[in-house]
Amino acid sequence: MNRPGGWRYKPAMAIHWTNLGLLLAVTVGHAVLVVAFLNRAMARPISHRLSHVLKQTHDFVIVLLPVLLVAFYGVTGSKLLWAGANTPSIPVALPVWLVGYLLVCLVLAVIAPVVKVLRTIAGPAKALRSTTSLVVDIAREVPGPLLGEGPYRRFANVPGNQLLQVEFNEKTLVHPRLPREWDGLSILHFSDCHYIGTVQRAWYDRVYEIACRRPCDLVAFTGDLLDDLKFQEWIEPTFGRFKAPLGCWFVLGNHDWILGDTQPIRRALTNLGWFDATETTRQVAFRGGSLVIAGSERPWMGPDPDLAGTPENAFRLLLSHTPDQIQRARADQIDLMLAGHNHGGQVRFPLFGPVYSPSVYGCRYASGVFWEAPTLLHVSRGLGGRHPLRINCRPEVTRIVLRSGG
Ligand SMILES: [Fe+2]
Repeated sequence: MNRPGGWRYKPAMAIHWTNLGLLLAVTVGHAVLVVAFLNRAMARPISHRLSHVLKQTHDFVIVLLPVLLVAFYGVTGSKLLWAGANTPSIPVALPVWLVGYLLVCLVLAVIAPVVKVLRTIAGPAKALRSTTSLVVDIAREVPGPLLGEGPYRRFANVPGNQLLQVEFNEKTLVHPRLPREWDGLSILHFSDCHYIGTVQRAWYDRVYEIACRRPCDLVAFTGDLLDDLKFQEWIEPTFGRFKAPLGCWFVLGNHDWILGDTQPIRRALTNLGWFDATETTRQVAFRGGSLVIAGSERPWMGPDPDLAGTPENAFRLLLSHTPDQIQRARADQIDLMLAGHNHGGQVRFPLFGPVYSPSVYGCRYASGVFWEAPTLLHVSRGLGGRHPLRINCRPEVTRIVLRSGG
């Protein structure tokens, strides 16, 4: 079409939508692979520096692939990834290894979301008979500011952040091997306090005060107490309030490990009457039966628990920082395993669930109740985190009530 003055109108080249769809799908599949790698790397005993570098660079790696593909092949023009049935440009333009990688990304882009949604709608294990929850916004209960000057403070103000709202859960779990005489055995399970200074001590004081209102037979803490040794002074006034007839038991986590020598933390807790579950496997007499309690801080610290010599009819309880020890627990015939570490993913999308979970199993055991015969596993979402961000994933304290039967 000629315009006055001799200027010739040339319509912009239309976007090739199939090509754009392919680019998006490839990007999704690529992101799935990068996040899967990150989750599994974080599950291992790596240095704080490497962990920081991996977290900081993985976004860039995710974005890099689509940017390069658009730069070289575009969404219009003749060099498209897929310009049409008669002009498949991929085999011609790209090296074979990259074609293979893009195909893997395409398959993952289809499969991964389906698996995620199916897992989310599948719900918890049948062993979870009931849950009652009390949500308390601690910020409304405690006067004065609850946020300090800890790291990543900026995350705390993200709209929708549930950082300060705590879910006090009571979960009734049925266990086929629980002795009839033990029916109603209660365990207060909490995890991942992460004393780091972003959330102030007054918040923890109130949380523990509410958690201790209902009596329980045993208290279990599954690691990641400190992120900064200067908050050791919080241990006595906060953990000192817990009491239970079968004792208060703990294991430490990777954030305690990364601080160096964990003995001062262990001493502070044992001086308060807490038992270090990793020290040795112990037997506790209870209502005519025997409860065996063991601890695991693998893969960061210590050996696997030694359960040799444990009576066959004893009920075996394992405290493990990470649920990744589940296969070892099954091999050791653990009846109930309590874990934390994954924080429920901290950010959970409707239907889709969490994306980040530092586990060799990815998000599979991010939080909740799982029956992996013969082991019943409870993974707490924990109370804190190095990053003060929780969306659709409130901090959690759980009172577990065990019922016999199956
Ligand atoms: Fe943690």
